[in-house]
Amino acid sequence: MLIKSAEFVCSNTEVSKLPAPNLPEYAFIGRSNVGKSSLINALTQRKNLAKTSQKPGKTQLINHFVINDDWYLVDLPGYGFAQTSKKNRTEWEKFIRAYLTKRENLQCIFVLIDSRHEPQKIDLDFCCWLGEQGLPFLLIFTKADKQSAVKTDQNIAKFSKALLKWFEQVPTRFITSAELKQGTDNILQTIDEINGRFVIPNQDSNL
Ligand code: GTP
Ligand code: MG
Repeated sequence: MLIKSAEFVCSNTEVSKLPAPNLPEYAFIGRSNVGKSSLINALTQRKNLAKTSQKPGKTQLINHFVINDDWYLVDLPGYGFAQTSKKNRTEWEKFIRAYLTKRENLQCIFVLIDSRHEPQKIDLDFCCWLGEQGLPFLLIFTKADKQSAVKTDQNIAKFSKALLKWFEQVPTRFITSAELKQGTDNILQTIDEINGRFVIPNQDSNL
């Protein structure tokens, strides 16, 4: 897929204020600092479309971007940010879970996992919750430039093994580096394929 345009649309904390669900939508989610915003910039070939930071907790809102006037890409706040208060965490839970479960044009959730680490409970729990909700998700292993390909493969194998305790099959996975723009073509191709099957949801059934 060629990226002809990529524009910021709006930031929100309320599902009722999101743009009309008339385009296919893809959300990027994962632990704080895993590289969601950086990957969005790499995918769209823009330096600063999504704001990135070395400090965890940069993205705080549901951020909508429209790509090629054809699909929405959504940058979400990260989970598991230790310095956030319990109240903030509960707020996060509420509005992100409401968004994920109620957004009727959401085609697929990309769950980002840091490829440097062994499986983390918080990521596995989140995948299980998506599974329980029947929400479609794919896995993206980020920051692959930070260690050897062998180490990345080992961590992916361990994560897949852990997921197989709950799932019959492991979802499709992508290996990426926002730094090296690695793995972005495959993700865009997957989005392109799903876009081709999109049918505008009946808005009468909204919420
Ligand atoms: P929050 O919005 O805080 O949840 O973080 P985020 O998941 O959006 O992460 P962000 O894209 O802001 O990146 C966090 C840090 O990791 C930044 O310092 C990035 O430069 C760095 N980073 C992200 N992706 C990569 C990558 O593929 N390789 C390397 N080497 N660094 C990366
Ligand atoms: Mg971010």
